[in-house]
Amino acid sequence: MPDSAILGEGAVALVTGASAGIGRAVAVALSARGARVICAARRQDRLAALVSELPNPGLALELDIANGEAVDGLLAQLPEEWRQIDILINNAGHDLGGRQAFHQRAADDMAAVIQTNVTGMMRTTLAILPEMRARGRGHIVTIGSVNGVEWTANHSVYVASKFAVHGFTNSLRQELQGTGVRLTEVMPGLVRSEFAAARWRGDEDRAEKFYSRFDAALSPQDVADAVLYTLDTPPHVNICDLVLRPA
Ligand SMILES: NC(=O)c1ccc[n+]([C@@H]2O[C@H](COP(=O)([O-])OP(=O)(O)OC[C@H]3O[C@@H](n4cnc5c(N)ncnc54)[C@H](OP(=O)(O)O)[C@@H]3O)[C@@H](O)[C@H]2O)c1
Repeated sequence: MPDSAILGEGAVALVTGASAGIGRAVAVALSARGARVICAARRQDRLAALVSELPNPGLALELDIANGEAVDGLLAQLPEEWRQIDILINNAGHDLGGRQAFHQRAADDMAAVIQTNVTGMMRTTLAILPEMRARGRGHIVTIGSVNGVEWTANHSVYVASKFAVHGFTNSLRQELQGTGVRLTEVMPGLVRSEFAAARWRGDEDRAEKFYSRFDAALSPQDVADAVLYTLDTPPHVNICDLVLRPA
């Protein structure tokens, strides 16, 4: 693959939710292409193991994107040589307590989904974007979902969070026109990852039964390949939405 203007040797990338699934696969793929990757998530042990496996220098960053103070101070926490972020992958997200009729939802779980998928994602963007704009250089890829444009029953909170991601991303993209900062939303259908187990607080059997109901699923690697494709476009091309589904 050709080196794009943004994804070259030594580019700095920040991946949220790098400890599992899609985020982990993206972090590995970016590092394999020469990027220095800041791997952020809550589970520090996993991040340390990941960074030790990366082919290029990486940094483990313990970060809960639902913690506003931590996110706002994100750049200041980083060593100076890691502060000019070229690529932000807004990936961290969950569906805690989901796939449930709304009237049976726990209010705190509902709030946690919005706090992470929407507020945390926006806040992370706000922490990184001013510096990208000042340099006139950057590419933000946000992992939305097909649930950002379509809905099913018993999925209302997650669907609401991803509709918010889609609206936010489309509006911000217009604002960024001509700034040198590109914004892409990658919208996968079902991905077999730790997502379902996280939804049911580590209940692997329930997660396995859930995935076995479907004929096919994407892998985290499939989504990572799509993310790299969007980064590899020349600077005058912005892939706005990229929808991928299991065939
Ligand atoms: N799986 C699917 O079917 C699917 C489909 C479409 C879109 N997506 C989206 O893809 C993204 C990644 O999901 P996945 O399938 O890779 O799930 P996953 O395997 O469960 O990974 C989720 C990642 O997000 C991190 N995370 C969750 N809450 C966080 C928080 N508050 N702060 C920081 N990190 C947090 C987790 O790390 P820690 O627990 O270590 O913090 C983990 O690394 C999500 O935005 C999800 O909505 C998933």
